[in-house]
Amino acid sequence: MPPELDASAAPPQFPSSLLDALRQARHVLVFTGAGVSAESGIPTFREALKGLWERFDPRELATPEAFQRDPALVWGWYEWRRMQIRHAEPNPGHRAIATLARHVAQLSLVTQNVDDLHERAGSTVIAHLHGQISKPICFNCGLPTFHPEDRPEEPEGGRRLEPPRCGTCGGAIRPGVVWFGEPLPTEDWSHAMEAARSADLVISVGTSNLVYPAAEIPELAARRGATLILVNPAATAMDPIARYTLQGPAGVILPALVAAAFPSLGA
Ligand code: OAD
Repeated sequence: MPPELDASAAPPQFPSSLLDALRQARHVLVFTGAGVSAESGIPTFREALKGLWERFDPRELATPEAFQRDPALVWGWYEWRRMQIRHAEPNPGHRAIATLARHVAQLSLVTQNVDDLHERAGSTVIAHLHGQISKPICFNCGLPTFHPEDRPEEPEGGRRLEPPRCGTCGGAIRPGVVWFGEPLPTEDWSHAMEAARSADLVISVGTSNLVYPAAEIPELAARRGATLILVNPAATAMDPIARYTLQGPAGVILPALVAAAFPSLGA
């Protein structure tokens, strides 16, 4: 269960320079990671290896070799995650990003997440850098396909589930996500780079900023002189180049930030 928000806690305060920068921004790039979905009950990427999967290393599950070695184990892990996503709801952090898009001149949303919670909160995502769990493809012929029944099955015994077969070539269906060692989707990458080259303000939310090339996106914008704002309860690898580090959960910080920057316009 996501943590209870402490209603008695004072709302976060923001420097007026930060609020002015947001109000005057020409092009805001919002870059998100697994932390933005944490308050929806979706474990962050590195937490997703707790519980059932505690004894696995991501490299044992999120690679083409792992899928070839044991398709049922890898497909079972992703179906477990897809089921969690289907049962989850967007949280106030997702919704604040959708609201922000209505108040700034231009907002580009780039995510590393494979869930659809941004879209379900009303956002347009210009790039899913690591693919989408809801868009499986055939491991053999690469054709996009669909889940046999759009109802994720609980992997039997909580872990192994044989993947369905491709209707065209009979190959095994794989999750439509980017695995370690695989290239990022070309179109998504070029949209993200375009935004990184043009944005004058970047809000990086809920990412450890450890995984490249995705982490290049906020880094490139910051090195060009864009104002980099980090939203994360913990320190990240990007802190040294951030103009502002807002320590706290996205579901608390983002709604407060949008309300503080655009009070008259309402949510
Ligand atoms: P990580 O699990 O590496 O990092 C999640 C980040 O979210 C951490 O920095 C947490 O401190 C932060 N966090 C936790 N709860 C939060 C909250 N309520 N609000 C805000 N932040 C919170 O996940 P990512 O950085 O997204 O790639 O990982 C990036 C990529 O690494 C993933 O897309 C995945 C993995 O390799 C692929 O699967 C290809």
